[in-house]
Amino acid sequence: MAAIFSDSPTHPLDALKDHFTLHDHQLHAITKTFLSEVSDGLSKYGHPMAMIPTYVKGVPNGSETGTFLALDLGGTNLRVCEVTLHGDKTFSIRQQKYKVSEALKTGEATTLFDYLADSVDAFLTVSPKAESPKIDGFRHTSFNDSDPPAVPLALTFSFPVEQTALDSGFLLTWTKGFSAKNAVGKDVVKLLQDAFDRKHIHVKCVALVNDTVGALLSRAYNTGGCMLGAIFGTGTNGAYVESVSNITKLGKHPTAAAGGMMIVNTEWGGFNNSRSVLPTTPWDNKLDRESINPRFQAFEKFISGMYLGEIARNVVLSFIDAAPKPLLFTGRSTPILNKQWAFDTAVLSEVEEAWTGLGRFSGSSEKDQRQRVRGVLLQRFEFESDDLVSLEDAATVRQICTLVVDRAARMSACAVAAILVQTGRARLGGEGKGELVDSGERIGVGVDGSLVEFYPNFQKKMRDSIRVLVGSEVESRVEIGMAKDGSGAGAALCALIAQKMSEGASL
Ligand code: GLC
Repeated sequence: MAAIFSDSPTHPLDALKDHFTLHDHQLHAITKTFLSEVSDGLSKYGHPMAMIPTYVKGVPNGSETGTFLALDLGGTNLRVCEVTLHGDKTFSIRQQKYKVSEALKTGEATTLFDYLADSVDAFLTVSPKAESPKIDGFRHTSFNDSDPPAVPLALTFSFPVEQTALDSGFLLTWTKGFSAKNAVGKDVVKLLQDAFDRKHIHVKCVALVNDTVGALLSRAYNTGGCMLGAIFGTGTNGAYVESVSNITKLGKHPTAAAGGMMIVNTEWGGFNNSRSVLPTTPWDNKLDRESINPRFQAFEKFISGMYLGEIARNVVLSFIDAAPKPLLFTGRSTPILNKQWAFDTAVLSEVEEAWTGLGRFSGSSEKDQRQRVRGVLLQRFEFESDDLVSLEDAATVRQICTLVVDRAARMSACAVAAILVQTGRARLGGEGKGELVDSGERIGVGVDGSLVEFYPNFQKKMRDSIRVLVGSEVESRVEIGMAKDGSGAGAALCALIAQKMSEGASL
């Protein structure tokens, strides 16, 4: 762990800034390498940035209708929902959230999947309406002719799954702190279906969808079109619409012969695991070493909510421990500050909200700002005495948080810009162009996740860097909007696609 020297000629915050600042030339280098990993992943299986073909070959336009059950296992919560698509770009949703304990995340996979099945059962029991969903034209699945039809369900499973069809795929690896045993390499739809069958729960899993794909589909449904769905939440990832002819690893697969477009789940969290272009600080190294998956998901560990709080916590601790004299809180820590993973991005968002005076905060002098941040720190870090946190400490912590999040926003921009380039909508400005490739087109991007939803100005920070990379003309046509309930509505849309495909229709 890097020692911070409080008597060094460079101010420790300036030194920290040097560690965390990403210069424009670095943004370009990251984006170029990102593009080359995109092409590696599209041409061969087994690449960490997996570029997973999803077998979803079209995007909705808002006219779709039906009622579907969705089960969403993301990172923080488990959700069961019943989604009704109204066919006029709107939908309604009834849902129930369930907690996923650490024991479930790290125990036996069958216990986890039994819990998923039980949650669906509990939802159906308290929500009898969902037992006989009104699904326009849906062909219900029966075990035999006398059985009532099984309730069709789409599974949003937000982990890297190599799909082999719309309703099957094997888990490549766990991410985001999950490590349930005996799941990697297995078909997750089968694991879930087996759990339903073991418990005689009359539900049939008809579609498997990543949350990024759900975000893309739900944004397309709401707005009439979308080319990229991206999550900046507990984890980070993106899915986009690719031309099938570019997914060369599909080889002779019948889907390849049919041509057209297909949504690809990039799994960009696994970009640049070698860290050849991702400037890594000692605090990032510490986080990685102590994580459940060292040397994997490198990009995600710089960007997403599960990790940003931990990076900031590591930096705060090294400021507390600075030699020869402490730089924060008179050298005192607290039990919660000492606890690994104790903070996610929520605390960073609160610090920034307090600083910028958003929401419940008001007043705008620098003293007000510092006082508000100090209040957040006293409460969140659970200091025994108010005397331990000074106004200067508050300003220092806020700066630490900003450096961590700014770097995340700039790296996120590289991913978005690379997809714009990959799909022919932009050229890299670094090559002297940054010019419009197909003028006039609105470029729809659907986003979701706690970081982009709650951290003040995250989107603006990201846009500033997209502009640096692809020029302002293209950037101004990029329409970034929240993908409303992607993991629910998107899953429902995917179930609908499964239905249409089983009827032989193309979208
Ligand atoms: C992780 C998962 C990925 C998911 C993302 C956002 O990166 O591997 O599948 O989309 O988190 O939830």
